Amino acid sequence: MITPPRIIGHRGAKANAPENTLAAFRRAHAEGATWVEFDAKLTRDGAVVVIHDELLDRTTDGKGPVAERTLAEIRTVDAGKWFSAEFAGERIPTLEESLALFLELGMGFNIEVKPCPGREAETARACCAILERAWPRSAPVPVLSSFKRASLEAAREAAPNIPRGYLAEELGKSWRAEVEALGCLAVHPGWKRLTRQQVRDIKEAGLKALVWTVNEPERARELVAWGVDGIITDAPGLIGGALSA
Ligand code: G3P
Ligand code: MG
Repeated sequence: MITPPRIIGHRGAKANAPENTLAAFRRAHAEGATWVEFDAKLTRDGAVVVIHDELLDRTTDGKGPVAERTLAEIRTVDAGKWFSAEFAGERIPTLEESLALFLELGMGFNIEVKPCPGREAETARACCAILERAWPRSAPVPVLSSFKRASLEAAREAAPNIPRGYLAEELGKSWRAEVEALGCLAVHPGWKRLTRQQVRDIKEAGLKALVWTVNEPERARELVAWGVDGIITDAPGLIGGALSA
């Protein structure tokens, strides 16, 4: 059983703070979000860090593949000043640090396992081990999602009680069978090619529909009218405000 909220901040609050940083999670909270989505990857030495791209280049002042750097190396790069000077000094967070902040703020989350190629199962297992150790059972039940079926399978094996979400840019013909085979409780489709009928089908199957990345109030209102449970958005304040207006 999962009870995600209507609004989930994408990579924290990507529109208004440097994505996938503690500052972005704080910003999402300040905008009224009770959950955030973020991306999790492995360093060379097997630590789980929060970053979207395989390379450091776009969102930090570092260069090169995350998978080729140790945690100690990753911790030296600045993940905030590319966004604006106000965020200079922001670091790439570890998963543990992020969980500690969520507990402090009373937030829930959707962890997206975003493995570097070849590390699909290993990344999911590392995330699950940390969640099992550092996320109390009394805290809001999270959702672990991934585009990678091998990651979802590994998560199911490692921590069957952590609810899984089936991520897809577009729902193909076999989505239902795949969701069932992976034992997912939620479907996370991109909004662009999603149809009203697919939302009906998701709901009829007893699953949650968490749709990304919706930044236009009109679109968000339409999706909610279709029956979507959660909107993953870069601008949780804007979209939350529009939906409650
Ligand atoms: O989890 C939803 C969304 O974050 C998936 O796409 O590329 O933003 O991680 P991406
Ligand atoms: Mg993501």
